Amino acid sequence: MASVLIVAVLVLLNRRTSANPLHAHDRSIRPYGTCKSFDIPIFATADSAIYDIPRVNNDVEATAWAIWDATRTNPHGPYSRLQNTTTSETFKIHAQLCVPKARSPRGDILQLATHGVHYDSRYWDSAYQPEQHSYVDASLKAGYSIFTYDRLGVGQSDHPDAYTVVQGAIELEILRQLTLMARNGSLYDAAKRVQTKNKVQLQAPAKPDKVIHIGHSFGSVLTSSFLANYAKLSDGAIITGYLLGLDLASAGSTSWSLEYAATANPPYDRGSGYVVAKNDGIQNVFFGGNITTAYTPALFEYGNAIKQPVPIGEIASSWRILNNFAPNFTKPIQFLLPEKDFYICRGDCVGLTNATDLRATTYPNASAIEVVIQPNTGHALPLHNNATAGFQLTFDFLKSNGL
Ligand SMILES: *[C@@H]1O[C@H](CO)[C@@H](O)[C@H](O)[C@H]1NC(C)=O
Ligand SMILES: *[C@@H]1O[C@H](CO)[C@@H](O)[C@H](O)[C@H]1NC(C)=O
Ligand SMILES: *[C@@H]1O[C@H](CO)[C@@H](O)[C@H](O)[C@H]1NC(C)=O
Ligand SMILES: *[C@@H]1O[C@H](CO)[C@@H](O)[C@H](O)[C@H]1NC(C)=O
Ligand SMILES: *[C@@H]1O[C@H](CO)[C@@H](O)[C@H](O)[C@H]1NC(C)=O
Ligand SMILES: *[C@@H]1O[C@H](CO)[C@@H](O)[C@H](O)[C@H]1NC(C)=O
Ligand SMILES: *[C@@H]1O[C@H](CO)[C@@H](O)[C@H](O)[C@H]1NC(C)=O
Repeated sequence: MASVLIVAVLVLLNRRTSANPLHAHDRSIRPYGTCKSFDIPIFATADSAIYDIPRVNNDVEATAWAIWDATRTNPHGPYSRLQNTTTSETFKIHAQLCVPKARSPRGDILQLATHGVHYDSRYWDSAYQPEQHSYVDASLKAGYSIFTYDRLGVGQSDHPDAYTVVQGAIELEILRQLTLMARNGSLYDAAKRVQTKNKVQLQAPAKPDKVIHIGHSFGSVLTSSFLANYAKLSDGAIITGYLLGLDLASAGSTSWSLEYAATANPPYDRGSGYVVAKNDGIQNVFFGGNITTAYTPALFEYGNAIKQPVPIGEIASSWRILNNFAPNFTKPIQFLLPEKDFYICRGDCVGLTNATDLRATTYPNASAIEVVIQPNTGHALPLHNNATAGFQLTFDFLKSNGL
């Protein structure tokens, strides 16, 4: 026991003192802008449910849940509710607002970014080689402000009950509250009031002129549901790593290669029902393309180092936000799909959709729809070698649509 403690202390000390980009230094001053990190209390109310799903309190139960979840005849969706409930709570949401030095000629345009499952907001803001892999830095360079946050249950936001609280509907409501706060200036206000050691100032106006929603994976599921329900609150959308279709999640939860988060190595400060992917699960889901040209061992290592546990109630309740039809959305929307996305397209996104198809099925009134494929890239777009060229596809689309 004592030796375990000593090792744990050494590991912790080593982490604090090493030049590890994970526990890095202050990142408030960037090459093309400034950032502030802060916690926002968000009050949210949404319907929720108690689901008929297994409990997970150890590694064997983690894999058993994945098998249960991937079993073709097990119920998923509204019929797996045992009881309808309401969640009404104030949550701590950890966030970062970054503002460029030189704003877009079209004014202050804010991107509001929602990350997916298995990661937190660091997905958008790699501390490893940020000039090549941070979407936040690329956005600042392109003249956009960008707001990133840790979804409920993830990163430095609150980690409430994995079965009954962290669910699709409440996460959608948190996204709506954050959007309202962005639009009325209270988000900018909160960020400006945060004091940093180096007295960084955000050169932001009172509020953004436009708010664009960008998502990755489960964050794109949330963003799509947001467009379906609150179209008028968005000035444009970028959907990355998500396409609603037959191949979506067809690889199954067993491909995540899970263990119980609280006893993983290193352990996460999480309760019952939080599971975390082992390294091979991260590879299955997030890394794709030619292994000699698509990504480096260092990128894969970073992708493992920043991974986050998943609360299983989020998966059980995801049916609640798979409602994409958005006739009231009249703004531009881009789908950016990694060519070799295993979890979304079963390893090949080419030919699965196009603008005509998306207009017919989902966005009849969008002012522009574009589908682009990022070649030789897996699900984690920023963590592949050619990431900056992929980021540029989004900025080109926004600019060509007046954003
Ligand atoms: C939950 O509410 C829905 C209606 O919103 C209803 O159809 C369903 O039967 C309810 N489920 C339970 C378990 O009460
Ligand atoms: C802005 O919107 C948020 C979320 O709806 C609300 O709580 C806040 O009071 C609003 N602030 C202003 C200044 O209107
Ligand atoms: C779409 O807009 C119409 C007309 O403004 C409104 O009645 C309807 O409720 C909206 N639908 C959604 C899903 O927001
Ligand atoms: C991967 O790329 C390398 C270098 O270009 C090439 O030699 C190899 O054949 C490629 N592998 C596959 C499976 O395409
Ligand atoms: C959206 O398009 C449909 C036709 O697909 C039309 O009936 C509807 O009025 C349009 N809604 C808006 C808000 O423009
Ligand atoms: C777009 O996708 C639809 C449905 O998948 C297909 O029928 C159609 O041929 C495609 N159109 C183009 C221009 O590729
Ligand atoms: C990098 O991405 C860009 C944009 O998608 C693409 O045009 C280019 O061919 C890619 N380069 C490689 C080497 O895959």
